[in-house]
Amino acid sequence: MIIGSNLIFIENLPSTNSYAGKLLRSQTPTEGTIIYTNYQSAGRGHLGNRWESEDGKNLIISIILSPSMISPSDQFIISMAISLGICDFLNRYIPFCSIKWPNDIYVNNDKIAGILIENSIMGYQIEYSIAGIGLNINQEKFLSDAPNPVSLKLITGISLDLITCLNQLASDLDKRYKQIISESYDLIRNDYLSRLYRLNEWFNFKDSGGIYSGRILSVSDIGRLQIERKSGLRSEYSFKEIEFIL
Ligand code: BTN
Repeated sequence: MIIGSNLIFIENLPSTNSYAGKLLRSQTPTEGTIIYTNYQSAGRGHLGNRWESEDGKNLIISIILSPSMISPSDQFIISMAISLGICDFLNRYIPFCSIKWPNDIYVNNDKIAGILIENSIMGYQIEYSIAGIGLNINQEKFLSDAPNPVSLKLITGISLDLITCLNQLASDLDKRYKQIISESYDLIRNDYLSRLYRLNEWFNFKDSGGIYSGRILSVSDIGRLQIERKSGLRSEYSFKEIEFIL
């Protein structure tokens, strides 16, 4: 086991990703170390957003990886593998979940988990990667203005033991990480695409030109979203260049 071979619990922290970054600057933590907490006072999400998580209710973790075998141009494979590991975990409890590009985990139209991956690139190698995951397990009320949060408890009505969930998640993520190590990139990409939220269905999207109806065709190897318009025109987007209209 790589992911979960070393667990560090700290009762509360500003952010597990920031803590992992500090650890990497002061020590050489074992690859696969998971830092987890009950509460983050400054949990970080995408686009400078805060990540809301009620004290002791959810999984809040950061994993330290040293994926030196992945070339920086392939770094999106980490995002895909982590997303799939979370879906594998969720499938222990619910039959359905999807991945909203690039790496939000959805159940129907609601967000159950967010991922914040921070890679450090040195020359032609990824020196380290911090994979931060916020996965809503037992929280029943969400106070922030996030549009569509959900938790496993809200879906199934059942409260789960967080340590059991952490061990299961670590094992599911470890299996996916080993697929990266064995260079099973095609398998990871196919699994990722098969779970992609709104793949091949017509929906509204918003880019710098405004709102239009389009359908997702695929995601490129470097992680850009490919969308086709009704006119047949195809565009590719990086994160932040396109918005889903939910
Ligand atoms: C998102 O905006 O969807 C990404 C949210 C990522 C939240 C997790 S919680 C654990 C880790 N530590 C952080 O500060 N953020 C990530």
